[in-house]
Amino acid sequence: MSLIDFSACPLALAPLAGFTDLPFRHVVKRFGADVTVSEMISANALAYRSKKTFKMLEKSPLETPYIVQLAGSDVRMMEEAVRSLNDSEGIDGIDLNCGCPVPKVVSQSAGSSLLLDLPHLERLVGCIKKHSNKTYTSAKVRLGFSEKIPAQVAKAVENAGADFISIHGRTRSGGYHAPVDYAAIASAKEAVRIPVFANGDIKDAQGALHVKELTGCEGLMIGRGAVGSPWIFHQIKHHSLEPEPALVHAVIMEHFDAMLTFYQEKGVSIFRKHLHTYSKGYPEASTFRDTINRIEDPAEARAYIDAFFTPKSPTS
Ligand SMILES: Cc1cc2nc3c(=O)[nH]c(=O)nc-3n(C[C@H](O)[C@H](O)[C@H](O)COP(=O)(O)O)c2cc1C
Repeated sequence: MSLIDFSACPLALAPLAGFTDLPFRHVVKRFGADVTVSEMISANALAYRSKKTFKMLEKSPLETPYIVQLAGSDVRMMEEAVRSLNDSEGIDGIDLNCGCPVPKVVSQSAGSSLLLDLPHLERLVGCIKKHSNKTYTSAKVRLGFSEKIPAQVAKAVENAGADFISIHGRTRSGGYHAPVDYAAIASAKEAVRIPVFANGDIKDAQGALHVKELTGCEGLMIGRGAVGSPWIFHQIKHHSLEPEPALVHAVIMEHFDAMLTFYQEKGVSIFRKHLHTYSKGYPEASTFRDTINRIEDPAEARAYIDAFFTPKSPTS
């Protein structure tokens, strides 16, 4: 059987730079995410064999299939980056970032600026396909840069030999908050034969069903909806309700411990953004956030987090 079963509505965790690191991906895998993708990794940094960049490639043993996402624009650098990954085991695919809107990336003609030059986008995906020894080549795109050209974008990715596409249903101009155009994702999907992951604003099981119906896509990709709610994958698959407080507590502690294992004591500060989301809706959340923002010591942070999220009995 292939690693991704496109006949079973696979669910992917979207790459979110600064969030979807190894510890977080490990946690979402426990809740049934089918595909995980690394944070965006600079092809140039990989081509130069940067040690820090290789650390970003590490994966949890649970992660199969695991896709590494590259950002870049120079075909020679892309080839070198792909070759450097050919020596790494445990990577099942390479994805090209064609959606990042950040000026630093766009000014280097990478990310979403590739949507302005589809022949070049095609060359880069083709380069990955030609030189990679991994099972999958893919691209994650938006609907266009300013203008919506979903079918052309999808066709360019397919023509380059990609095995699947992930489509975030906004243009670059739409940033992260313009309404997601699911009909445009559907038109991209209709234009190609390769499988498509639909992405954008899927926040719960009902939303997932809605997006699947509107787009007709094989798979769904979820980003921000998983931050603070890594159990969303289980909820979508099993139509389950909100998890019990005891499970939430256990997950948060497991996530925190994985952060310390991966980042050592730096994990305490890196984990704060996750704690801000996990604590949403809890009484005293703002006091909790203020306090945790000032704790640096791992043992002290652990004890404070543990006490805050331990379910309170009705009498306590
Ligand atoms: C903080 C943040 C970081 C992101 N980093 C990446 C990235 O590294 N690569 C990428 O292709 N998309 C990135 N995205 C876009 C997401 O993968 C996704 O397409 C977008 O957030 C819409 O999906 P969602 O509504 O499920 O979050 C990022 C988005 C956010 C908010």
